[in-house]
Amino acid sequence: MSFRFIHCSDIHLLDLTGVRPWRFFNKRLTGGVNLALKRRRMHSDALFDQIIEHARARKADRLIVTGDLTNLALEAEFELVKRRLGEAGVAVTVIPGNHDAYTKGSVRSRRFETYLSGFMEGERASGADYPFVQRFPGVGLVGLSTAVATLPLFATGTLGDAQLGRLAKILDALKREGRARIVLIHHPVMPGVSKARHDLLDLAGFGAVIERHGAELILHGHEHKHIEGVLPGPEGPALVHGVGSGTCLSLKPGREGAFTYFEVAPGTIEKQHYVWRGASFERAE
Ligand SMILES: [Fe+2]
Repeated sequence: MSFRFIHCSDIHLLDLTGVRPWRFFNKRLTGGVNLALKRRRMHSDALFDQIIEHARARKADRLIVTGDLTNLALEAEFELVKRRLGEAGVAVTVIPGNHDAYTKGSVRSRRFETYLSGFMEGERASGADYPFVQRFPGVGLVGLSTAVATLPLFATGTLGDAQLGRLAKILDALKREGRARIVLIHHPVMPGVSKARHDLLDLAGFGAVIERHGAELILHGHEHKHIEGVLPGPEGPALVHGVGSGTCLSLKPGREGAFTYFEVAPGTIEKQHYVWRGASFERAE
């Protein structure tokens, strides 16, 4: 029996209702609100509804969202995300992206974790939010966080040595248990994929952990672009799959709104990629 799930990312749901004007005295947030409103023209929450519908129709075991569920990490946005995921009618797993840690305040108050802990249940080291591990028959999901508050115009991510150390141990444990290891991370993990000031700062450290301890599948988002590749592992390559934004209205090849349906069991990974065609998602490969 395989573990069946849908992977989507970067849904950037936006709700600015009830946001008090004083929040925008923060210059960064003022600029951020402008950007988010502009982005609205290229994104539609209705696409996320279609993804949820697809997950329900296929009776997927899980819907996985690899970060950037919000734009500015405001309470109103997290309220909206929590409500939408809670009403999805399918089990959901999330990890944070850089937009979910848009301000230092949101990171300090662990806003993402506070609102969305119900979608990150699992085992974790005491005192650490990440990685968390969710075990399913034949499969282990490992949720990482690269989300750190950055300077304006930077969208970089960092895992940190402590999180990488815990990841190595978890990958070994899941391997011993005979599970296919699926690693969830917001930022791209292959060199040269991310734009400057957009990259994972400890990409080499992550690559070294995978090279030594292995993984079967690595899922990411962030660049709003379809990316396929591999990272070297001890017994063969780890497949890397980057999915476009789940709510993007673009029809440009490789940049379309997208999601991917997977069936994973130890020794097999099958996937079907769907892209936005203007009215609905259609199977692309
Ligand atoms: Fe991102």
